[in-house]
Amino acid sequence: MAEAQNHPSPQPLPDGIVSATVVARTEKSWLVLMVGLLTLFMAIVVGSTITSALHPPSNVETIDPVTSHLKGEFAESNLGTAQEPDGSLTARVVADQYAFVPYCVKLAADTPVKFRLTSVDVVHGFLLPATNVNTMVVPGYVAEVRTRFARPGVYSMPCNEFCGNGHHGMWARVVVVPKQEFPALAPTERSSCVQQ
Ligand code: CUA
Repeated sequence: MAEAQNHPSPQPLPDGIVSATVVARTEKSWLVLMVGLLTLFMAIVVGSTITSALHPPSNVETIDPVTSHLKGEFAESNLGTAQEPDGSLTARVVADQYAFVPYCVKLAADTPVKFRLTSVDVVHGFLLPATNVNTMVVPGYVAEVRTRFARPGVYSMPCNEFCGNGHHGMWARVVVVPKQEFPALAPTERSSCVQQ
């Protein structure tokens, strides 16, 4: 290469060999393309975070795991689906070894839904296949995930975080009914499909 710089040859380059200027130009255009693609991917991540409510698995909202099932938001009588004044639904679920309480959550299609989950013992996972719902459920924290089910159906909700010997058997269901079939709930009323 040093030789080539010392004696620039006026002769055309052999077949298949390109000049340093062409190489530099090609490298530059690939660099621009790569930076462009990275920017695009980053924009997609930020865009879907804002529009599809994707966020890190647990908001930094803490709760005492020792007393959470006895009083407050995650007391047993407050679990299941609640209807907010604006018509949206909030489903509160507690995870423990090895069950979700309630084990069948009833929700309405085409309605904003907010899941609020906590664990009373170890780390569990909460996943609804084919939705944006996929979060770790960490003791001491409240995990919150927002979604909207486009159509009615039954969704399995397996625990997807290894939590002990019974992990493989820890799963429950979300039953999404058509919007008009979902009963209107009084402010303190909670709904589930555990009896079905
Ligand atoms: Cu709970 Cu795995």
